[in-house]
Amino acid sequence: MFVREGDEQRAISSMPGVVQHSIDSARRAARQAAEAGIGGIMLFGVPSRRDATGTGATDPNGILNLAARALVDEIGDALVVQTDLCLDEFTDHGHCGVLAADGHVDNDATLERYRDMALAQATAGSALLGLSGMMDGQVAAVRETLDDNGFEDTAVLAYSAKYASAFYGPFREAVASTLVGDRRTYQLDPANRREGVREAQLDIDEGADIVMVKPAGSYLDVLADVAAMSDIPVWAYQVSGEYAMIEAAAAQGWIDRRRAVEESVLSIRRAGADAVLTYWAVELATWLKEEQA
Ligand code: PBG
Repeated sequence: MFVREGDEQRAISSMPGVVQHSIDSARRAARQAAEAGIGGIMLFGVPSRRDATGTGATDPNGILNLAARALVDEIGDALVVQTDLCLDEFTDHGHCGVLAADGHVDNDATLERYRDMALAQATAGSALLGLSGMMDGQVAAVRETLDDNGFEDTAVLAYSAKYASAFYGPFREAVASTLVGDRRTYQLDPANRREGVREAQLDIDEGADIVMVKPAGSYLDVLADVAAMSDIPVWAYQVSGEYAMIEAAAAQGWIDRRRAVEESVLSIRRAGADAVLTYWAVELATWLKEEQA
């Protein structure tokens, strides 16, 4: 769920049916999600101002922290309120970390920002932090900071096998990203299958509660590999481009929308995902309920 600063919700043209919420419309959507019976919501912030170090991410009144607080207040334990822990929505250059003087992403300086972000999100009430920035050592750093500050029960979801993918395209519009270039220095090489498993193992060793593979549909082999070796839950993220492709083809009448949506998520489940992050979550849950009734 995307939450923007300001009073009005806005459409995302490349993701028909998904919107940038205001905090008020996010409250209503969270209630619907709880009624539909899904497990949780993952929040992404869309700030109106950005800067070099992403100060909006650690400001208690930054949009993502405000949204987390509002939704926990709205629905309590009816849903697991989760937050994306990454700087890309908050930096003016659009990278997931802070930059060194020569312009490359500075891994270890970024870890310090992630520690502060983790504290801000946990303080706002987020129960599960989604570490999507792909910095080395991020799980250990965030786990240590949480434990040292009384947030032992706040869970860490590690985006372990996050590939440098073209399928994140519509997400850039969804969060009004300013990124120029790509994330290939910190996300994984789509040609490399084993590295996904190795990254998941590293995150398990660093104390992750859940590991994730992303994107899902084009990486079912990696997902099956990680599911086979992991002794902790494995999730998969069906990303914006996967959503947009099915919506676009269905809008043309070229595929059966409901069957394609169901088959795409079923395949992710079949490959070994214990849970799936998908933009169709509420609709799918509603269909499943109807079928069971
Ligand atoms: C980083 C983040 C991204 C996505 C989720 N978290 C963007 C990226 O890494 O480029 C993409 C998700 C999607 O495409 O649906 N904050």
